[in-house]
Amino acid sequence: MIRPLLHFLSGSSLAKKFVLNFPLAKRVARRYVAGERLEDALEVTRTLTGQGLRVALDLLGENAVHKSDAEKATTDYLAMLEKIRESGQSCYVSLKLTQLGLDQGNDVAVANLSRILEAAKSIGIFVRIDMEGSKYTEQTVEVFRRARESFDNVGIVIQAYMRRSKSDIALINRLGGQVRLCKGAYAEPPSVAYQSRPEVTRSMKDLMYDLMLNGHYPAIASHDEEVIQETLKTVKEYGISPDKFEFQMLYGIRRERQLELRKLGYNVRVYVPFGSDWYPYFMRRLAERPANLVFFFTALFRG
Ligand code: FDA
Repeated sequence: MIRPLLHFLSGSSLAKKFVLNFPLAKRVARRYVAGERLEDALEVTRTLTGQGLRVALDLLGENAVHKSDAEKATTDYLAMLEKIRESGQSCYVSLKLTQLGLDQGNDVAVANLSRILEAAKSIGIFVRIDMEGSKYTEQTVEVFRRARESFDNVGIVIQAYMRRSKSDIALINRLGGQVRLCKGAYAEPPSVAYQSRPEVTRSMKDLMYDLMLNGHYPAIASHDEEVIQETLKTVKEYGISPDKFEFQMLYGIRRERQLELRKLGYNVRVYVPFGSDWYPYFMRRLAERPANLVFFFTALFRG
């Protein structure tokens, strides 16, 4: 009941205005978001890499409504890459194709993405394409396929709750592409996505085996201990070397576990979002764990 409501609110501009007007909301969101400026994110990067963790930076942004918005987002990403280079920090970046003009067509997204990939390649940075709602899945896979023809520093995300994911992974494995596997964070209808937790977890494990055995440096992105344990079991069973894959988790979630896995010798990357447009990301995190609402309201009213 609460979950669908939070998903609905994540897309509501009225709710967004309300939450953004609460100065304390920003403070609460800092649990999941590094800050509004790149400097905040680079500071967090320094701390995490100092602990042996790896980082993926995500500049939070909205769908580009006009071509000029997509152009601006592309320029922002290029500036961000330049600042990362200047800082000497080691990280990769994640982005959403709707920021780069996917609503204006695949050609626009491919052109903007290619500019970013070119600049990233010249400074040795890998770029991961996040996966968005099911309306964009087909386009996202297609844009990835086209980008992959010219660039090897690009990867994609596949969501285990999507019924089509097994065949998407088969295609990406054939292309030699790198997949980040996650459960999926959007509200989707039963026609395209598994709905129950056991079904999604089963799909996650199935796809994890597929990637660990046939994929190319897969990233298993989950905080679910059942998924983590199954991955570790697969690693032991098949003698997979720790440098052949990585675990990924979100900034602010299961920090202790991130460090424990690292201590055991596994690569762990933390996804660090930053930027002023943190509202939809924050609401998706609340929707994943409605218990966080208690934390949210307690912090809001304590002040
Ligand atoms: P699950 O939701 O079952 O959580 C397992 C446990 O983790 C919980 O019991 C709790 O302890 C903890 N936990 C999970 N979420 C929490 C929260 N918000 N607050 C506090 N504790 C929490 N999705 C997508 O659609 N497209 C994408 O591109 C990405 N990218 C991405 C990158 C990375 C690095 C990660 C880790 C995740 C994503 N996701 C994503 C989000 C993903 O689809 C999924 O919604 C979340 O990871 C939650 O699913 P879990 O597998 O963690 O399991």
